[in-house]
Amino acid sequence: MTAGRFDLTGRVAMVTGGSRGLGHAMALGLAEAGADVIVASRKLDACEATVAEVEAMGRRALAIGVNMSHWDEMDGLVDTAYDHFGRIDVLVNNAGMSLTYGALGDVTEAMWDKVVGINLKGPFRLTALVGPRMAAGDGGSIINVSSTGSIRPAPFMLPYDAAKAGLNALTVGFAHAYGPTVRVNCIMAGPFFTDVTKDWDLEAFDVEVRKRHALGRGGQPDEIVGSALYFASDASSYTTGAVLRVDGGIP
Ligand SMILES: NC(=O)c1ccc[n+]([C@@H]2O[C@H](COP(=O)([O-])OP(=O)(O)OC[C@H]3O[C@@H](n4cnc5c(N)ncnc54)[C@H](OP(=O)(O)O)[C@@H]3O)[C@@H](O)[C@H]2O)c1
Repeated sequence: MTAGRFDLTGRVAMVTGGSRGLGHAMALGLAEAGADVIVASRKLDACEATVAEVEAMGRRALAIGVNMSHWDEMDGLVDTAYDHFGRIDVLVNNAGMSLTYGALGDVTEAMWDKVVGINLKGPFRLTALVGPRMAAGDGGSIINVSSTGSIRPAPFMLPYDAAKAGLNALTVGFAHAYGPTVRVNCIMAGPFFTDVTKDWDLEAFDVEVRKRHALGRGGQPDEIVGSALYFASDASSYTTGAVLRVDGGIP
């Protein structure tokens, strides 16, 4: 009964940015729960590697190369997915990235557009295409991946933090737009060890999180999977428009 609530057998999940990091972990977690999985990111060969892992678990899978910051590519992404599987039951808007810069005045329009494009514009367009098709069918679950920076904006990541704050807002707005059969929720991620942390000063990070974060450490990618399965499945049937912190207890 309890496990049944999390069962995704027969459902199709699309994970943007599913080739690496948190998206990769969620793609495998969704497959483990029974879903077939579409993996979308810029590098098709990297998506195909995840697809091979999903297929090795006995699920069907499809790799699609797409740049999430390109509005016009979203139609093709959705059409390819529906042509192949006939449905999308779970959409995880996970692809995202930030850029480093010196002073805020050094942020160029191109940098702004890139960061806002992938973290906010792409998820908006993709959800606006998938949400109505879910609503016209059997309903579905859309999961956005935002950041704790959205509520604790830092000067060195301001375009990213602002885009993620926008994603929190989209979560609530889309939940009302496509409810009651489509639920839209958001995982607000804290620091997870992925490719994005490769450039961090991990010693300084460790000192900081030990001192301030309730769990005293950064997260491993598979520690996001539980929240994704909760939102993806019937376990969260009365939850929509919610933003859940998964951050190891940042004060
Ligand atoms: N890790 C953290 O500490 C942390 C904290 C808060 C929030 N987050 C959020 O969690 C999500 C996943 O982050 P992560 O740490 O797993 O990052 P990651 O390891 O760098 O993986 C990013 C994924 O997004 C894809 N991607 C990047 N740019 C893309 C684009 N323009 N179009 C399509 N796909 C693109 C990448 O594949 P390709 O290179 O093939 O495109 C990759 O699959 C992001 O939204 C991030 O903002 C992460």
